[in-house]
Amino acid sequence: MADELILEGETREEKYQTLIPQIKALISDEPDLVANCANIAAALRQTFDFFFGGFYFVKEDELVLGPFQGDIACTRIALGRGVCGKAWQNKETIIVPDVNAFPGHIACSAASISEIVIPIINKGVVCSVLDVDSDKKDDFNAIDQKYLTELAELISDRF
Ligand code: SME
Repeated sequence: MADELILEGETREEKYQTLIPQIKALISDEPDLVANCANIAAALRQTFDFFFGGFYFVKEDELVLGPFQGDIACTRIALGRGVCGKAWQNKETIIVPDVNAFPGHIACSAASISEIVIPIINKGVVCSVLDVDSDKKDDFNAIDQKYLTELAELISDRF
C-alpha cells in the first residue's frame, strides 16, 4: 500500500482521475470493509477537503453511520428520510444544489449547503450510501456523480 496519497490535478475531474487508481490500489489487498471505507473517506477529504464525506451502512431497516470524515453526524436514518434515505429508497444518486430547498433534508450541520448521495448497490440491493456534503452552494455536478459512482462500484462487491 502507498504510504502517501498523491494529490495532483487542477480541475476536480483531474483530481478524481488521480485519486481513483490510488483508491483501487489501497483497497485491493485489504479485505476489511470498515478499514477500506475509512481510507476512502480520508482520501476524499485529503483530495477535496469536502465538509463531510463518508458512508452510511444499511443495517436492518435503517441507515447507520459508518466511516466518515467531518463533523459529527446523525447516526441513524430511516428509509425514505432525508437525502440519504431517499437515495436508498429510490436506488438513485441524488444531487442537492441547496439543501434548504430539499424538503425533508436532515441537517446534521447548518454549515452543509449542498450534497450528493450515491447508493452503493450489490446484486441489486442497496447496502450503503456514500454521502458527500459541501459548505458551498451548488458544489456537485455530473462529474462528481461519475467518479463517486466509480468509487462506489469499487467497494460494492465487498458488502
Ligand atoms: N443530510 C443528510 C444526512 C446526513 S448528513 O448530511 C451527514 C440527509 O438529508 O440525508
